[in-house]
Amino acid sequence: MNKKKNPDDLRSHRWLGVDTLRGFGHRSRAKQVGYALEDFAGKPVIGIINTWSDLSICHSHFRQRAEEIKRGIWQAGGFPVELPAMPITETYMKPSPMLYRNFLAMQTEEMMRSQPIDGVVLMGGCDKTTPGLLMGAISMNLPTIYLPAGPMLRGNWNGQPLGSGSDVWKYWAERCAGTITAEQWNEMEDGIARSAGVCMTMGTASTMTAIAEAMGMTLPGASSIPAVDANHQRMASRCGRRIVEMVWEDLKPSDILTRDSFENAITTDMAIGGSTNAIIHIVAMAGRAGIKIDLPQFDEIAQRTPVIANIRPSGQFLMEDFYYAGGLRALLNQIPGLLKLDALTVNGKTLGENIASAKVHNADVIRSTDNPVSAKGGTAILYGNLAPNGAVIKPTAADPRLHQHTGKAVVFKNYNDMAARIDDEALDVTADSVIVLQNAGPLGGPGMPEWGMLPIPKKLLKQGVRDMVRISDARMSGTSYGACVLHVAPESYIGGTLAFVQDGDLIELDVPNRKLNLLVSEEELAKRKAAWQPQQRVYERGFTALYLDHVTQAHEGCDFDFLHAGAPTPEPEIH
Ligand code: FES
Repeated sequence: MNKKKNPDDLRSHRWLGVDTLRGFGHRSRAKQVGYALEDFAGKPVIGIINTWSDLSICHSHFRQRAEEIKRGIWQAGGFPVELPAMPITETYMKPSPMLYRNFLAMQTEEMMRSQPIDGVVLMGGCDKTTPGLLMGAISMNLPTIYLPAGPMLRGNWNGQPLGSGSDVWKYWAERCAGTITAEQWNEMEDGIARSAGVCMTMGTASTMTAIAEAMGMTLPGASSIPAVDANHQRMASRCGRRIVEMVWEDLKPSDILTRDSFENAITTDMAIGGSTNAIIHIVAMAGRAGIKIDLPQFDEIAQRTPVIANIRPSGQFLMEDFYYAGGLRALLNQIPGLLKLDALTVNGKTLGENIASAKVHNADVIRSTDNPVSAKGGTAILYGNLAPNGAVIKPTAADPRLHQHTGKAVVFKNYNDMAARIDDEALDVTADSVIVLQNAGPLGGPGMPEWGMLPIPKKLLKQGVRDMVRISDARMSGTSYGACVLHVAPESYIGGTLAFVQDGDLIELDVPNRKLNLLVSEEELAKRKAAWQPQQRVYERGFTALYLDHVTQAHEGCDFDFLHAGAPTPEPEIH
């Protein structure tokens, strides 16, 4: 350990170490809950920021894991304090968990700043918790380790593996088409979520935890361990031991997170066939570190990075298989030439050192670069008059015949309009139509819900149609698939071109040439723009009003405009 700090240099010393009236108050209150001076005096105070709740089902093991982290902190001579934080649960939070990512980021930052904390272990995993926790910790810039929740065990139905999300969408389409029964559907409900942990496909959760590891913010290998594996428990106490050392070493996010580490994050996202949501979160996390990432960088890195994780929805297997095949370290060791191996990580070693010995144990699950799942990464950035600031598509998850397609728009003004009319037998829609959903973006949703895998009309499902071009300013679940154009910016709610699309307009999608255009004349568009009326705002109070006043667009990461990197907030005075 390269010790740079002494007990008197600890941030918590200002609360607990000083011979003042306030110091008396702080120490006496630690003693109120049974601690003796020797339990905390001169020791790093480590916050364990825990996103557990009864409804945070992916984190149901976090109460026990917090105890295991504490064990490690005590062993290493630290003083653990557990701090509950907003449990953003993807399953239950409405109108969209994304609405609350910035809430968690603010809570994380402010909890750290306002209390006697020297370093933190962040406990998250369910989609938005990873970026939310990291964004707050990056802004506060105290020594930080991230402990990912780990994926749940494989789903099982009739001896077939079931994947979170991906198989739900797949079998729901079959149920709508009448090819599976209600009884079979109910059996799947019993078998798809079998243990603690996050979705076990390469959805947003496992994408973001892999990215956290590639950025250097977890201990090596942490992101791949299944939640209920005893190795996950050992990883938790290892995080506790290491964070105490990091405080003495004064190793902070600003020492770890450079442009190289964010490039490693993007390369990893592409190599694992990761969720499109990662684009927004990487831009936001980098923004907190003062690093600007533009959308075309994702496309550039995708062009040179093969998808080598054969995991659903881009591939065949599940996260449990990925772990047994060697996990993220083994995957990264397949592509050393594409990574910035000198990037530093929380264990004080470089990414290159951390992955050097990792082996692949199943070459079908973690492919080699000469036998990839796809020769190029799974993200394309589209531009055109329909998306002047960009839109996103995951070509690897779309039917290739739709990569170049021009079709007539079938437009829905909002989600309720779509829900009411999509299955109407009289709807004028064919397999060649382009389904458009408006008012589903960061402000329009609000919170940019995961509605982007717009449903295929039942009458087309019955005809055997399983993919169509669909366009919205929404996001889609990382477990989703299809020719879905997402994140259209600027969004329709603020008068982006998407707001002016009408039924029957021709829309051109050209993925190879990265184009997305509304084939309507400039004059006609100007006329529609002049006649356009914005939707009435219905949220006038509370966090949602703050969100609507300050959230940025998708290509800017949907962070709040006042939370981008800038002058640090001053440390609190202790009076
Ligand atoms: Fe929590 Fe999917 S619902 S990770």
